[in-house]
Amino acid sequence: MVTSGSNQGYMNVVLSLLSEGDTAMVFRPYYFNHMMALQMVGASVEVAAVDEQLMPDLPQLKKRLLDAAAPHVKMITVSNPGNPNGVMLPAETLRELADACAQAGTWLIVDNAYEYFSYEAQGYPAHSCVEGPHIINTFSFSKSYGMMGWRIGYLAFPEVLGAQLLKAQDTIPICPPVMSQKAALGALQAGGAWVKEKVASLDANKHHLCTTICECLGETAVLGGSGAIYLMVRLPVKTDGSLAADVRVVEWLAAEHKVAVIPGSACGFPGV
Ligand SMILES: Cc1ncc(COP(=O)(O)O)c(C=O)c1O
Repeated sequence: MVTSGSNQGYMNVVLSLLSEGDTAMVFRPYYFNHMMALQMVGASVEVAAVDEQLMPDLPQLKKRLLDAAAPHVKMITVSNPGNPNGVMLPAETLRELADACAQAGTWLIVDNAYEYFSYEAQGYPAHSCVEGPHIINTFSFSKSYGMMGWRIGYLAFPEVLGAQLLKAQDTIPICPPVMSQKAALGALQAGGAWVKEKVASLDANKHHLCTTICECLGETAVLGGSGAIYLMVRLPVKTDGSLAADVRVVEWLAAEHKVAVIPGSACGFPGV
């Protein structure tokens, strides 16, 4: 299904799968629009744990999914690679997550907005996709092809969801503007190779940023960054051991240094 950007596609999915009170899960740190979409339909949202590398904590997740005493988890959303952690999931991790969802009767939604932003030359995993009768993949032209304002993306979904998704689609955009669809077709003809060339040009900036942050805040300050265009920076803890007030740091960076960044607490990850 061609959508007016992947956020709209995700909203179609949420409207199709969830009723008020259903349980949905996202991983910490989450993409805030996912959280907002889930909140808007009145879902009960659980934020799942991640390990030190910001990868889904799969043993804990499996335990939760199969816990008969806890509410059934209707859907799990993961961004691969992630916003805001910039983490690319290895293919085997993604498959294990998909299998855990299948076993629990849980839908898995994978947001692939940054699919072409991978850094294999630096030893990080390539982007991979999973498919299955319980899996929905969302895609976007916004980042890969620099077409944010054109509002165009698409969904790949199992046929069983077609009628429900179409109801949401017909009620919200009806269809993305034809002009954007034609531009997207042109972008596809340029293809992934064109995008990868542009992505490679980000390396030098990223290296410079990481080196400078590590010099100032220590070797362990930078988190994530194996995919997408994001890094997370662990702020120094306060002298009393409590987390830094990330929102105030962000305000200070904007006011004093004209640097715009997002506070971790907007994504369920305070202190970064
Ligand atoms: C993970 C993720 N998904 C979706 C989007 C939005 O994509 P679109 O512009 O196609 O709605 C973004 C934009 O920041 C994003 O980071």
